[in-house]
Amino acid sequence: MRNTITTDIAYCQELLQNNELVAIPTETVYGLAANIFNDTAVRKIFEMKGRPMFNPLIVHIHHLDQLSSLAKSVPEAATKLAARFWPGPLTLILEKNALVSDLVTAGKSTVAIRMPNHPLTLQLLQGLDFPVAAPSANPFTRVSSTSAQHVADYFGNRIPAILDGGPCMVGLESTIVGFDGEAAVVYRKGGIALKAIEACVGQVSLLTKNEDAPQAPGMLAKHYSPGTKLILSDDVLKTIEGFTSQKVGVLAFYESNFANASIVETLSEKQDLDEAAQKLFAALHRLDQAGLDVIIAQRFPNEGLGISINDRLERAGN
Ligand code: TXA
Ligand code: MG
Repeated sequence: MRNTITTDIAYCQELLQNNELVAIPTETVYGLAANIFNDTAVRKIFEMKGRPMFNPLIVHIHHLDQLSSLAKSVPEAATKLAARFWPGPLTLILEKNALVSDLVTAGKSTVAIRMPNHPLTLQLLQGLDFPVAAPSANPFTRVSSTSAQHVADYFGNRIPAILDGGPCMVGLESTIVGFDGEAAVVYRKGGIALKAIEACVGQVSLLTKNEDAPQAPGMLAKHYSPGTKLILSDDVLKTIEGFTSQKVGVLAFYESNFANASIVETLSEKQDLDEAAQKLFAALHRLDQAGLDVIIAQRFPNEGLGISINDRLERAGN
């Protein structure tokens, strides 16, 4: 039998052409991909993830020419953002074209589109005559996968193939930007810092939370969660005091000494927020597998990708 984890691009293309699922590497997190033009294939994504059908998928492309067949209109601000950040960790929400099925967009009139920046996946996409829909390759509400092994740990051989592109270099899901006319609206904080988006298109607004009818379910209060209880703390040493007789793991920015912690995961000794983002989910996966009673995560500086990291940790803690 073939190994599920593979670097054989031609084999993965063949599976996708036969309407099977393939896990693909991107610079943000691994995705669970299927042919967007085949509803049977797309349905398999929802089944595999246990994902509610009201949660739309992101369409992954490899060339700007593909935009016109998927989107009805492209605001100027979107064109600017695509030119500046694609391929890269940016998803644009655009009015959809009739070609895009309601299954992919969960019945919405808009479609989410992104050009990922990963050499293997770009090569894979170039050899296909369809784009792929791909949510993050994790069960619904769980921590995203940033390595092929994380995907295998979640789904085992239930996925026909996992294309191994190594560890994800950005490590946080894409920043999602929609448009109100020409005005950019950030739906999900992610791998591109808000400041960088604003440097490109001017001031943006943030989509406010509406838990009853989430616009982007990545904004659900509970999301990105490890199985172990997680607490986001402004003062880790003080929070640890409340758990003296328990097995505690700490997720820290740059420090590594915390009295009474069984395990400490330090994300960037040199205090680099990009490095911390890259390592965040792998550290959460390890902490989750360590048989801990509780994970205490330190709040990150509220700047650059620290803003996106705090967003994930807040949701992980719910
Ligand atoms: O970095 C990423 O974006 C990764 C990689 C694999 O590309 N994908 C990812 O997909 O994070 P997913 O499905 O886990 O998160 C996509 C988010 C969801 O919260 C979904 O609700 C939102 O995008 N979304 C998709 N289409 C949308 C639409 N038309 N309007 C609003 N939100 C949308
Ligand atoms: Mg996800």
